[in-house]
Amino acid sequence: MKLIPAEYALNKTTVIKKKLADRYLQPPTNKIGKAFAPTNIALVKYWGKRNQELNLPMTSSLSISLGNKGAETILSLNDKSQDEIMLNGNSVDLESAFAKRLFNFLNLFRTSSHTEVWDPVSSNPSLTINIKTNIPIAAGLASSACGFAALIKALDNLYNWNLSIKDLSILARLGSGSASRSLWNGFVEWHQGEREDGEDSHGERIDTTWAALRIGLLIMDVKEKNISSRLAMQRTVETSQLYSAWPKKVSTDLHVMKQAIATKDFELLGKTAESNALNMHATMLAAWPPVNFSLPETLNNMQKIWQLRAEGLPVYFTQDAGPNLKLLFLKNNQETLTKIFPSLEVVQPF
Ligand code: PMV
Repeated sequence: MKLIPAEYALNKTTVIKKKLADRYLQPPTNKIGKAFAPTNIALVKYWGKRNQELNLPMTSSLSISLGNKGAETILSLNDKSQDEIMLNGNSVDLESAFAKRLFNFLNLFRTSSHTEVWDPVSSNPSLTINIKTNIPIAAGLASSACGFAALIKALDNLYNWNLSIKDLSILARLGSGSASRSLWNGFVEWHQGEREDGEDSHGERIDTTWAALRIGLLIMDVKEKNISSRLAMQRTVETSQLYSAWPKKVSTDLHVMKQAIATKDFELLGKTAESNALNMHATMLAAWPPVNFSLPETLNNMQKIWQLRAEGLPVYFTQDAGPNLKLLFLKNNQETLTKIFPSLEVVQPF
């Protein structure tokens, strides 16, 4: 076993310090930083970390961004004695889990250089963080993905770092793994990378558009999930006997998915995405205690989709860390599907 001396131990701060160099902990140059990032749905999923601190994944993954569905974040300097967070027009309790997760990330970029302890009054001006989303938060609709991607872009804007999009992807990953894919529109591959510091673990856009592709959000529950994806992943990696088969499944699916995208083979894309999601949920069900994100309605709708396919309608689904399904289909079947699923919210990614 390779022993890593303590002074080389990498944490988020060491990674950020290296990336920002002399720009690290400099005061903001603008009064406002504003950015939008789309949310993304993985067609080949990320499930399991090889490094918990830096959100380094066990495998690569591949997603599609949801166009104008996502988060807009505006950071503005305020003259109050403390920060404030507004979420869709409502003030957020600064003691809530949501606020704590946000500040844990944000404060990595504005800790006082003298004390290494963030003090909102003496070290930095307070911020008003105004977030507007058009997707339900924490309902398995990748709200953390677009949230952290929009936040790092807004910080880049506020502090004038002028980082490359690849570097923004690396920094967004420190907030939430899937956020590393939310810096681009369209299809994005997140390369797992091999390095200990995660410098090669970032998103990359796949240069293919597919105008007829549609994603339908079939929302059954907008409540917060009862277990975070972080804990659920960790438990799966540690206790599920099926997990050892997962990296191989992902590697095959990634290869096939890229082929399906390049040749615009919809059936191959749908089949690969659905099978990948079902395999991911199977690994979770085999964890102990079991991890189950589905509701009875989730399974009912899966059966409905399998029935529709048996009747000749090309529609597939994928499912993330929540009970909702995302349907995959082509434009020519949109009308039929919105009649069958009246609540379906259709997104046109390209
Ligand atoms: O980035 P996280 O910690 O929110 O995890 C995302 C996990 C899945 O949505 C289930 C899969 C994925 O690749 O987005």
